[in-house]
Amino acid sequence: MRGAMLQTLEWTGTSLRLLDQTRLPAETVYVDLTDERQVWDAIKRLVVRGAPAIGVTAAYGAYMGIKDAPGNAQDVVLRLDQVCDYLASARPTAVNLFWALDRVKRAVRLPPGTPGGGWGEGSGDDVKQKVLAEAIAIHEQDQDFCGRMGEHALQLLLKLEHRDPIHLLTHCNAGALATSGIGSALSPIYVGCQRGLKFRVWADETRPLLQGSRITAYELSQCGGNVEVTVQCDNMAASLMSQGQIDAILVGADRIAANGDTANKIGTHGLAIIAKHFGVPLFVLAPSSTIDLSITEGSKIPIEHRDAREVTHPHGIQSAPAGVGVYNPAFDVTPYELITEIVTENGVWTPRP
Ligand code: MRU
Repeated sequence: MRGAMLQTLEWTGTSLRLLDQTRLPAETVYVDLTDERQVWDAIKRLVVRGAPAIGVTAAYGAYMGIKDAPGNAQDVVLRLDQVCDYLASARPTAVNLFWALDRVKRAVRLPPGTPGGGWGEGSGDDVKQKVLAEAIAIHEQDQDFCGRMGEHALQLLLKLEHRDPIHLLTHCNAGALATSGIGSALSPIYVGCQRGLKFRVWADETRPLLQGSRITAYELSQCGGNVEVTVQCDNMAASLMSQGQIDAILVGADRIAANGDTANKIGTHGLAIIAKHFGVPLFVLAPSSTIDLSITEGSKIPIEHRDAREVTHPHGIQSAPAGVGVYNPAFDVTPYELITEIVTENGVWTPRP
């Protein structure tokens, strides 16, 4: 279904090839990563970004961190734990990172209480092959889940009162370039296009790093005639909604608490408040790996704060006085009562008290 789309990431057999998203839309550059330090750096600097893509990348990073480790199964499992702890420190909010690393660790552990003390079975090489197989399974599952989210969410959109083309607004990038498949928030657009439906999409620019204008507008502009994409600054969404221009809002998620509170790119919360005011439905689309049942409510989700220069020096050009204080959280939390539905690969969940 991804067709001729740009590949977010590709496992070559010896390296992880990533599209460098820091250089979009001006340049299409791929980088080949071969060790865990390069993977950590790529996640930290947003060369690869978006919760599901970060998870898949980290799983391959775990393999690359142990592939040359010497010793028996126990030695390799110990090294795997160190590599996973290291990769987990790259970014704090998207739970898919920790979920994927837990999965590769669990793939090589024997159940607690098993003779052998819970260490991996077989030789060191067996452990390495199991980690790689798990990374590939996470990757393939991500692609499958995107398609399933797209089907469920398209059905929801078609049930709404909507125009032709369907008028949508999205924030940040939760598209193909945030996953290894057809995206989360943008997946119903790709599924709908395949069925001949037409969409008009407003992409919030998404300050400060402009994932909306640089990445969402870029990937949607490659869709052909069925999608018309328009970019607007983040502070223009209320103006659009007040004119009745938006049938629905589609966003992704970085972590969803057990009660449905959702961390997503900074600005999503404000958008949800505006949407509630104007009666515009807001749908969160995310694979179930983004739901963190260990966190009861959104206030407990760790929020990443990023470098002040992202705000004070957009495109390297100074836009604020030297030394001024800067507030730069990368995410905010939208309370569940502002979310119309949450869509995962398993279907639709209406968060209610
Ligand atoms: O800082 P980013 O670009 O990694 O933030 C990405 C988002 O907030 C996305 O909306 C979210 O990860 C969902 S991606 C399918």
